[in-house]
Amino acid sequence: MQIGPHRLPNALFVAPMAGVTDRPFRKLCKRLGAGYAVSEMVTSRRDLWDSLKTSRRANHEGEAAPIAVQIAGTDAAMMADAARYNIDRGAQIIDINMGCPAKKVCNKWAGSALMQDETLAIAIVEAVVQACAPHGVPVTLKMRTGWCDSARNAPVLALAAEAAGVQMLTVHGRTREQGYKGQAEHDTVAHIKRLVKIPVVANGDINSPERAREVLQRTGADAIMIGRAAQGRPWIFREIAHYLATGEHLAAPDLAEVRGWLLEHLDDHYSLYGEDTGVRSARKHLGWYAQSLPLSREEVAHFRARVNASATIDAQRRVVADAFDAWIDTRESPAWKLAA
Ligand SMILES: Cc1cc2nc3c(=O)[nH]c(=O)nc-3n(C[C@H](O)[C@H](O)[C@H](O)COP(=O)(O)O)c2cc1C
Repeated sequence: MQIGPHRLPNALFVAPMAGVTDRPFRKLCKRLGAGYAVSEMVTSRRDLWDSLKTSRRANHEGEAAPIAVQIAGTDAAMMADAARYNIDRGAQIIDINMGCPAKKVCNKWAGSALMQDETLAIAIVEAVVQACAPHGVPVTLKMRTGWCDSARNAPVLALAAEAAGVQMLTVHGRTREQGYKGQAEHDTVAHIKRLVKIPVVANGDINSPERAREVLQRTGADAIMIGRAAQGRPWIFREIAHYLATGEHLAAPDLAEVRGWLLEHLDDHYSLYGEDTGVRSARKHLGWYAQSLPLSREEVAHFRARVNASATIDAQRRVVADAFDAWIDTRESPAWKLAA
């Protein structure tokens, strides 16, 4: 799998998810088997570039190459500027967001709303490709299947984007109107894969090794992209990689292993966000981790309550370390083994 000059170790991608796939989480996913990760979207609004949120998103210190940054906006010249701004800060691949259904983005006619205006969408693609070309930076595009069921124009846009110089397409198998409802379909991806020569990535509801294999086989896609199934379970990438390579399931990680990854994730998270924001924004990750572990409902609820009540890095880190120690002890005790 290759994007422009960048050769990737495998074809398993982490989806960009605003508020989730920040640098610490992307780094962990890459360490646990993802071949590629795209940043959370960075706005094309210059007035917001100095905000703490955007400057954090545009900082890629310590992240494994290639650094891919997603940009979002509605104006071709502003999007070209945003591409240059991110290239200056280390971006090696620029991804254009035409997939996000969020109101905040769509009301400003960005994200998947751009698919409604093909002329504007392609003008943006052309401007961004032109801005990136002198730097040798490839441009990729992420979109949905269309705006609504009667306007499923992803294949038309895919061809136009390829002609404009886009070097990889990702398609989430839902329309904007669907939001996250129903099941993602991958027939549109299969269709686009037959239409274009550039790599095509399938995205939407891929949440298990079996599903990953099925989507790859059914669509002929060059890669798959995983979003929500990686929340609290970044080791899904190595599980899928193992299954695709051997046809066998990798054993689930043990609690001691997860404890190590989670504490490493937390430390990285705190050092990016600082104490106040870091402790608050770590809570959702910790809740997702707890849900993906073999814990009882009571254990998850108790853990979340204690995590949410801790207001400092020290306290939150201690809650996590102690909880894992207790779970590991219980599971290793002869009484638990007998009960199991
Ligand atoms: C919390 C959240 C934030 C998201 N943010 C973005 C984003 O910034 N840019 C984007 O292109 N897609 C975004 N998405 C969409 C995902 O990249 C992906 O296309 C979608 O979740 C479907 O994949 P999945 O079923 O594997 O989760 C977001 C999704 C979620 C759940």
